[in-house]
Amino acid sequence: MEKKELLYEGKAKKVFTTDDPEVLIVSYKDDATAFNGLKKGTIEGKSAINNQMSNNLMKLLETKGVPTHLIEELNERETAVRRVSIVPLEVIVRNVAAGSLSKRLGLPEGTMMKRTVLEYCYKNDDLGDPMVNEYHIYAMDLATEQELADIAKMAFTVNDVLRNYLKDLNIDLIDFKIEFGRTSDGTVILADEISPDTCRFWDSSTGEKLDKDRFRRDMGGVEDAYQEVFKRLMGH
Ligand code: C5P
Repeated sequence: MEKKELLYEGKAKKVFTTDDPEVLIVSYKDDATAFNGLKKGTIEGKSAINNQMSNNLMKLLETKGVPTHLIEELNERETAVRRVSIVPLEVIVRNVAAGSLSKRLGLPEGTMMKRTVLEYCYKNDDLGDPMVNEYHIYAMDLATEQELADIAKMAFTVNDVLRNYLKDLNIDLIDFKIEFGRTSDGTVILADEISPDTCRFWDSSTGEKLDKDRFRRDMGGVEDAYQEVFKRLMGH
């Protein structure tokens, strides 16, 4: 497979076309941003960690019936994926209150939710990715009812699978964000990444944060936290 031109450069990834119109190459970067790009920095080694971790978790999810964009890991930082058109929604699943949910609802971080919470945000940097509900999504034609039903079902499956898997690694899955894309035949599949950039991982024994909150909140030990999660996942 031959890498062709740069299609898109995002905050944490570059995406290249290939000689196959149905295949793209994702190239992860060490760059990190937070608060819609207001905070910028580098997390050394993050590209290799996020690439490999995301691929391993997607492989696991495939075995549990969740279709993903993963085709093949090409090297430490690059992966061939199925070309999709991204559904412009950030799909957020929460087991424990943290981050923006804690702020919005006045729930102390760490409060266990009685039920899993599913949220949607409209992917739009200019607007700061505002939260939307199903009515907005249909009114703006962001997804069909069938697509959103499929997305919600897959999001809950991803939560169940990852939560159980991580529990064995002494990691609590607090919340995460995933994205979906449509293939050329209109099937909705899991796309983007699953990594410490996009999930909150807390050590089950100590409650220590092992994710991007360490960068967002200037807590230090960012690289070590990414390495620790990587070690637990890849050694498993
Ligand atoms: O900030 P907030 O509490 O809404 O984040 C919920 C989850 O979604 C966190 O795991 C965070 O890492 C992830 N997220 C993300 N990208 C965003 C917003 C949130 O990966 N743009």
